[in-house]
Order: sequence, then C-alpha cells, then structure tokens
Amino acid sequence: MSMRRWACPLARLALVAPFIGATASAQVQLRVASQRDAEGHAWWQHAVFYEVYPRSFGDANNDGLGDLNGITQHLDYLQDLGVDAIWITPCYPSPQVDFGYDVSNYEDIASEYGTLADFDRLHAEAQRRGIRIIFDLVVNHTSDQHPWFLESKASRTNRKRDWYVWRDGKGPNVPPNNWTAIFGGSSWQYDPATGQYYYHAFYRQQPDLNWRNPAVETAMLDVTRWWYARGVSGFRLDAVNTLFEDPQLHDNPTRPGVNAYGDQEQVRKYDDNLPENHRVLRALRQVADTYDAVLIGETWTDDVQQLKAYYGSNHDEVHMPMDLMFTELGRTPGARVQRLDARAFRRHIAAMETSGEWPVYVVSNHDIPRVATRFADGQHDDQIAKAIGAFYLTLRGTPVMYYGEELGMQNNDPQRKEDVKDPIGIKGWPKEKGRDGERTPMQWTHGPNAGFNAGAKPWLPAPPSARTHNVATENADRTSVLSVYKAVLKLRHEDPAVRDGSYVPLNEDDPNVMSYLRRYKDDVVLVVINMSGQDRTAKFDLSAQGLSGAGARPIVQSAARGDLSGVKLGAYGIFIAEVK
Ligand code: GLC
Ligand code: CA
Repeated sequence: MSMRRWACPLARLALVAPFIGATASAQVQLRVASQRDAEGHAWWQHAVFYEVYPRSFGDANNDGLGDLNGITQHLDYLQDLGVDAIWITPCYPSPQVDFGYDVSNYEDIASEYGTLADFDRLHAEAQRRGIRIIFDLVVNHTSDQHPWFLESKASRTNRKRDWYVWRDGKGPNVPPNNWTAIFGGSSWQYDPATGQYYYHAFYRQQPDLNWRNPAVETAMLDVTRWWYARGVSGFRLDAVNTLFEDPQLHDNPTRPGVNAYGDQEQVRKYDDNLPENHRVLRALRQVADTYDAVLIGETWTDDVQQLKAYYGSNHDEVHMPMDLMFTELGRTPGARVQRLDARAFRRHIAAMETSGEWPVYVVSNHDIPRVATRFADGQHDDQIAKAIGAFYLTLRGTPVMYYGEELGMQNNDPQRKEDVKDPIGIKGWPKEKGRDGERTPMQWTHGPNAGFNAGAKPWLPAPPSARTHNVATENADRTSVLSVYKAVLKLRHEDPAVRDGSYVPLNEDDPNVMSYLRRYKDDVVLVVINMSGQDRTAKFDLSAQGLSGAGARPIVQSAARGDLSGVKLGAYGIFIAEVK
C-alpha cells in the first residue's frame, strides 16, 4: 500500500469577534502582534495538536458513529494528556462518500455528528480546559450534492456554472485530457444533461471548485470567517496541492507501470502543485491573521525546499505546513513496514533546521497506516511506539498527533473486500485495502467496542488488541505507551528547553542511537533514543557545548539507564535527562 497515494507529483482563542472596517482590523493586527512571547513565538508554536476523526472518537448517542458530544465527553482525557488544540476532520453535512471530505454545506454540522448547539457546547467546554478547536477546510472540492454544484450542473448558463471546472470532451466519449483522479479512473466525469465534463481530483462525487473564479474565493473566505466568529481557532487545509489545474489542459506525461486502480502511472505535471496555489493560501492567511487563527496545511512534498514554499516567501501563507515527508523516512518504496533510521531522521531534521522555518512534525494520520503498525517488529511493538513518541515530541517545532497514537494503537485492516468502507479500498482491493484500518474506534476501555459506545455495532470494529491497549488499562500502568506519552508531553509543556530551545545533534555518526540536546539559555535537556532492536551504549562528551563536567538527571527513562559517560539502552530504549 502506498502511503502517498493521492498527493505527490511523482508518487504523490478566537479572541476577537469579527471586526469590520480598516481601523478595526488594524487594531486586531496590533493585538495579534502582541500575542507573541519573549521568543517571538505565537500560541500555536507552543501547542500540541491532536487530530480527532469524529466518526471514531466517541459515540455518545450509541448509534455506531462517533459524534461531537462524544468528543465533549472526553475533553478531560485530552486535557490530562497534554493536548492544546484538536483538529477535527470534516464534520459538516455530507453524503459521506469520502467520510466528510465531500461537504454539502460548510456552515452546519452533519446531523449524525450533532448540531451547531453541540458544537457550541464542545467549544465552550474545550475553552474551559484551554483546548482550541481547529476545523478541516475542504478547499479543493465540494460534494456533488452541494447546492453550488447542483446549480452549476443545472445548465451551461447557470450563474454558478463557472464555480466548477467544466470542459468539452475531445470527442464522443473522450474526456478533455488524460488526467487521472487520485482515487482512480479519469478525473473527468461526463454530465449527459449539459453535454460537458466536470473535473474531480478525487472521487467523482467531489467536483473541484474553480479557484480561478473570484466568487469561489469570496465564498470560501466567508466560510472561514463564519467559523472563526463561532470560535474555531484555525483550519487544517485539505488537499492544497490540487487547487489549480493547467488552463490549457495539457496531457500529463506518463510513466511506466499502472497503479492499484489499473491506471497508467503519470507525472502530475499539469494538475498538481501549480504556482497559483500560493495566491489562495495568502488570501486565506490574511483572514486567519485577523483572528489570530492558525492554518495547517496538508502539504505533501518531495523535499524541504518544496515544503518551505508553503510557509510563503514572506511568511504569509500556511503557518503550519505539515511535514508529511517525516511519515516516510525509513520506508522501503512499495513496502508497508518501515524501520527507525537514525541517519535518515538526522539528515531530514538538519534540512528542516537549516530551512529557517518552524517544523511541524507528524507521524500518522487518517490517510496512512498507524505509526505503531508501520514500525512494529512483532517483538518490541510497545517499546517502539514509546520511542517514536519520545523522539518526535521532543523535537523543535509543533507536533500534530493522531488519536490513539498515544496508546500504541495499531491498524485493524479489513480482511474481506465486503467489509471495506473506504471506496478506494473497494476499488483497489486487494492491492489497496483503503484507510479503514487506521480509522477504527478510539480505545477507551477493555470493555465491549473498546468503550467507544454503549454497545451498538461501531461503523468499524476495534481490534482484539484493544483489550490491552486502551486508556483505562494504560492509565493504570506506569510503563505503558500512554504513560510515556504523558510524561513527554508534560516535559514539553513545562521545560523551556523542550518548548523553545535550539536543537543540537550529538554523536552524528552513530547509525543506531539518535541523540540530541534541546537547549534554552542555561536549561539543557538530553534526548537519547535507541532506534535499533539491539542493546546499545551511547557516550557523551559535551565539552564542545561548554558542558564538560555536567551530569545527567533522568526525567523519562524506558529500557535505559546510565549517565553521560555511558547510557545503556535496551532495544528501542529511551533516555531523557536534564543536563546540569
Ligand atoms: C485529503 C484527506 C483525505 C481525503 C482527500 C480528499 O487527502 O486527508 O482523507 O480523502 O483529501 O478530500
Ligand atoms: Ca453517534
């Protein structure tokens, strides 16, 4: 299963009510500017973000589907864990073809997930606990049931015709060009009633908006204002690579081979990553800054230079373009399993550090297999999950977690085609089994349905491992994955070195043990992670850092002990210490 299956060119406090008028907006700018700390850091640079897949987090009304009240019920847990902001994947009204990424109304809540009143309560309760809410903005496309599209397809002369990308075919049954959809098949869908094709980068039920039409931009910026005014603190921008297509509709060059859907591979030269994307990002940013809100980007890139472009040349685009390359390091192309590769991580972090940008590290999400599954070796799975958390949560930057990651939760992939819910898994079976496996219910208890609800059949099943890997059981075990995550997140919030400090790589030739300092003024924290399945010893000479004669006081240890003269680590051992 390819993890970059849809995006990359080659593989792939709302503090303020809405203000109107120039003077008011200047005042807001001032307030925004003043909300930086002594290091010049904005709130989101100190926050820990946590992705919630609403369908799978908590099912308060016991109908098998998660809902907003189910999130509200678990806010204490999130606060206790050390989460500062939750990104909720789309919970707007939707035919749910792509489980919410096909929006039919941007300014409401899906009835199966609750009501706007439920959202207001969730927001108020979250705010009481210092947790912000980030929504998911599906900017590239709507549902084919959105009133905008229904109007657009009503006739060639409809006033919303040009809100979507309509073109004539090249001839009878011949689409306008060779572009293929990220989810398989041609990206053009014929509409017999008006005799034209519309463009869709994803499913045919997800027609692409025409961002060359200023009315589309105005409408979407208004959507963001509407939610900022209602209390969301930002958006995760979905599929930002694909906002624009070549107006001349040049064919994409092809490459050898076919993908899981049987389509000829192609280089996405003309339908992906067009420079025009950046203009839209700047427009979204301007509005966001007025509300001290943050934009997180679903930014699939090939290298750090490409990622850097998403921050904007004047830091005027996405505040937090997610580093999704980080999810791929140590993966053999084509394989699902990955190995922790200290050298690859070191190289990548060094490139991020020299980019001058604020990193946004991510290890998993609702589109890629769970991190504990990708790195599992069948022997040290929990210790590996702990090592990954201790590693990326102590790096400089802002982390975006995925629900259940803190439990060492693993994928529960469908075994039979008839059980698959994700359409790409049905279309691509058995090569592509879809994304159900990483979207199963959050594991709260060892009881029925892992405590997701009061017993109704959940839309996806919890795996047998939920009996041991769940919040209740892991909370009672000081050595669990959850306990390690909590300890590391506590450190992240409390220790200035981990929060604000520089990143200083150590022992850079060691192929197995990843070591670095985080340093802020006199405060120094040492992080040592054994990225191998064998026992290792790491020795430290910190004289180059002006720290000769210092000692190490352990803060978080798991399968490791020692001091600067020799830290002994078991397989995937973790040693985090204060250096004094
Ligand atoms: C993004 C989402 C994914 C969705 C796709 C189409 O990649 O993360 O879940 O299917 O966009 O909206
Ligand atoms: Ca429900």
